[in-house]
Amino acid sequence: MEFQTLIENRRSVRKYSSHTNVTKEQIQQLVQAALEAPSWKNTETGRYYCVLSEDMSQKLRKECLCYANNDVKTEHAALIVTTFVHNRAGFQTDGTPDNEIENGWGCYDLGLQNENLILKATELGLSTLIMGLRDGDKIREMLSIPESETIVSVIAVGKADEEPSRPRRRELEDVLKFY
Ligand SMILES: Cc1cc2nc3c(=O)[nH]c(=O)nc-3n(C[C@H](O)[C@H](O)[C@H](O)COP(=O)(O)O)c2cc1C
Repeated sequence: MEFQTLIENRRSVRKYSSHTNVTKEQIQQLVQAALEAPSWKNTETGRYYCVLSEDMSQKLRKECLCYANNDVKTEHAALIVTTFVHNRAGFQTDGTPDNEIENGWGCYDLGLQNENLILKATELGLSTLIMGLRDGDKIREMLSIPESETIVSVIAVGKADEEPSRPRRRELEDVLKFY
């Protein structure tokens, strides 16, 4: 798919088809695309925890995604928890922060990776929903995610069962200044 079409066609989807299961190979393709993103000193601190099994997915949705109906919206979708190893991107080897952004750089790098991931999904004919409303502590416990990682988002991936329209975007002049 042409790049401009790809970025315009991607939408957050909140209803997934029960007829298509996302495969392990597809998830591997998505995370491989994520790894192509640039990162602070090439530290690549993003980590991915993918839940494909129906039992675990149900438990994760019920116990960790019960905000804003995220549990219902992501039925039939695979779930990917995204984290980053903190105190690494944006820090020197002795632990001194390179500047005031500190762990914001780890989050920045993860976002770059996550955008690659969701665009790759769009290219493969899949849809996604990034969720920031989730219970990080419960997710950590359920998936045994180390304390050295900051849990950020959960991304649902599946076959869309709806065609959302494009939400309004700001005008260029609202966000861009030239000097
Ligand atoms: C960091 C982040 C967190 C989000 N969290 C949620 C969420 O918890 N639940 C939800 O339904 N949508 C969530 N969204 C989806 C946004 O609402 C959506 O991206 C936005 O409305 C624009 O729509 P579009 O993705 O179709 O362009 C989140 C998006 C981002 C980037």
